[in-house]
Amino acid sequence: MRPLNENIRKRPWLGWALFIGTMGLVFLLGLLASSITERRTEALFAYTPSVKHDQYEPRNAVWGQNFPREYQSYLNTSDTSFVSKYNGAATRDMLEEDPRLVVLWAGYAFSKDYKQGRGHYYAIEDIRNTLRTGAPMEGQVSPQPNTCWSCKSPDVPRLMAKTGAADFYRGTWETKGAEVMNGIGCADCHDAETMNLRISRPALLEAFENMGRDINKVSHQEMRSLVCAQCHVEYYFNKKMVDGVAYLKFPWDDGMTMDAAEAYYDNIGFTDWTHSLSRAPMLKAQHPDYEIYTTGVHASRGVSCADCHMPYISEGGQKFTNHHIQSPINNMSASCQVCHREETAQLVADIYNRQDKIIENRNVLEELLVRAHLEAKKAWDLGASEAQMADILQMIRHAQWRWDYVAASHGASIHSPVESSRIISTGITRAQESRIKLARLLAVLGFTGEVPYPDISTKAKAQEFIGLDMKQLNSDKKIFIEKIIPQWIKEGEARESSYPVSSN
Ligand code: HEC
Ligand code: HEC
Ligand code: HEC
Ligand code: HEC
Repeated sequence: MRPLNENIRKRPWLGWALFIGTMGLVFLLGLLASSITERRTEALFAYTPSVKHDQYEPRNAVWGQNFPREYQSYLNTSDTSFVSKYNGAATRDMLEEDPRLVVLWAGYAFSKDYKQGRGHYYAIEDIRNTLRTGAPMEGQVSPQPNTCWSCKSPDVPRLMAKTGAADFYRGTWETKGAEVMNGIGCADCHDAETMNLRISRPALLEAFENMGRDINKVSHQEMRSLVCAQCHVEYYFNKKMVDGVAYLKFPWDDGMTMDAAEAYYDNIGFTDWTHSLSRAPMLKAQHPDYEIYTTGVHASRGVSCADCHMPYISEGGQKFTNHHIQSPINNMSASCQVCHREETAQLVADIYNRQDKIIENRNVLEELLVRAHLEAKKAWDLGASEAQMADILQMIRHAQWRWDYVAASHGASIHSPVESSRIISTGITRAQESRIKLARLLAVLGFTGEVPYPDISTKAKAQEFIGLDMKQLNSDKKIFIEKIIPQWIKEGEARESSYPVSSN
């Protein structure tokens, strides 16, 4: 090949073609650069606050004026249409789906009403409407303390900032009915000034302190799970820390595993309630989603809650975090397929397989527990002594704690399938042991037949069996919802209209 300058000398048009070509390229590059700068300005524009508010602004719509994309996607948590095989966003009446739960929780508020969680948008509506908070009116008080509001609303950090945590927890639930108004939102997870992730709940901060860990030193990736661990954890109400207060505490002092929490409760002699049939000193597991997740393979590979439940999306050239927190099965491409190459159907089958298998054994354990409670009642009826029953009741306590630990953590079977199976199988062993001991004791007491299994085929039959007057509970609640809730809303709105918000 001849050198270029010789070519140009022979054919001058080639020089011009090169010159024009280069100019064209420079022009196109210029266009690209200007488009990038424009997008940057756009991004800056989108992130320039249009209103100023402080950290304790509880209204999501106010924060949403500055961040409309995140806010709009958050509002989608109000969509209740998606249902998966075991979970989803619709209201599922778990007592109707599985009436044995009524017997397992006999003597405890959960036997009246237990619905599966919906989207964050509904947190306030659902706690107002559940039978578990009762119908406090005309001088009556709720059976629940104010502590129950703790994981429901950005009004909680607002109120805690005024009075401190202990005084927030103090008193019965209805006394803050007109104060806690807004569904879980921005102020629960974000710093108003920087929009960085922020831990707003003292219970998590205190739990880390008690474990000797500094929460300020965790990585950004860990924060993407820890904001969820403010609420999606096992907890209990400690009545010995501050006089007259049901103080919210996580049972993590000796570690975050199921076994460590059980040993912790045993050591401090804590019980949530005494079972009304077996008289066993029971524990109610809440929702140890975070603790179980930490034992799974995703956690060990550094995958956070937000990676699966809040994946990024793009809209109009902007990448942002999808705040529609929901079942990932409704959004497999963004939730899973950024890391896994498998087809959607295969990944969904992986989830359902794990759930099916763990729930198969969980159901076995559930049936054993119903029988153990009934057999223990029979033993009491035949005159068993406290000493004869003590070991048996402790085994029932441990077996049901294990069942509940997995059942109450709705995503457990996928968050950590191996640990979930282990917990269920150790529960089955304990339930079986309690029943062997019960069979021996019943024989000593002169009973060698089979304790009859009652007809608990529907929620209504099971509730009648344990002696609940559902008619009364439901009609009281109806009046409470019609009369009291509108007053709370009116009072709350009047207060909120005076909050300082200024536009920039
Ligand atoms: C302030 C407490 C709180 C925080 C923080 C919180 N949650 Fe929740 N979450 C709840 C409550 C309460 C519900 C149930 C609401 C209802 O049923 O009314 C819920 C429900 C859910 C559901 C069920 C939604 C559905 O459609 O069924 C998912 C999934 C979920 N949360 C995931 C997360 C993740 C992931 C995080 C962290 C990024 C998180 N949550 C942070 C309290 C919280
Ligand atoms: C349950 C916790 C939670 C709640 C509630 C929440 N966020 Fe977020 N938000 C996150 C997480 C997690 C991220 C990802 C942050 C990261 O990785 O740095 C995020 C990111 C953001 C960002 C950074 C840009 C982006 O999209 O990644 C903005 C802005 C934001 N959220 C606004 C809001 C607003 C407005 C609300 C209320 C409507 C809200 N968030 C409610 C957890 C939450
Ligand atoms: C940020 C990356 C990431 C995301 C998002 C992610 N995974 Fe994974 N997943 C992994 C890694 C890494 C492993 C471990 C595989 C290994 O190390 O060989 C894994 C393992 C698994 C396993 C086998 C382990 C087990 O626990 O049984 C299954 C099943 C799985 N993922 C399903 C899912 C599903 C379903 C989703 C969406 C809801 C998802 N993953 C989202 C990275 C991810
Ligand atoms: C690897 C992805 C992945 C990670 C990480 C993950 N989850 Fe999940 N989560 C799932 C899947 C899949 C389901 C099952 C959804 C179903 O059955 O519809 C689920 C279910 C749930 C549910 C019940 C959802 C419902 O519809 O009622 C909650 C609550 C939940 N996860 C919270 C969390 C929290 C909190 C964390 C972090 C501590 C977390 N998840 C981490 C994938 C994940």
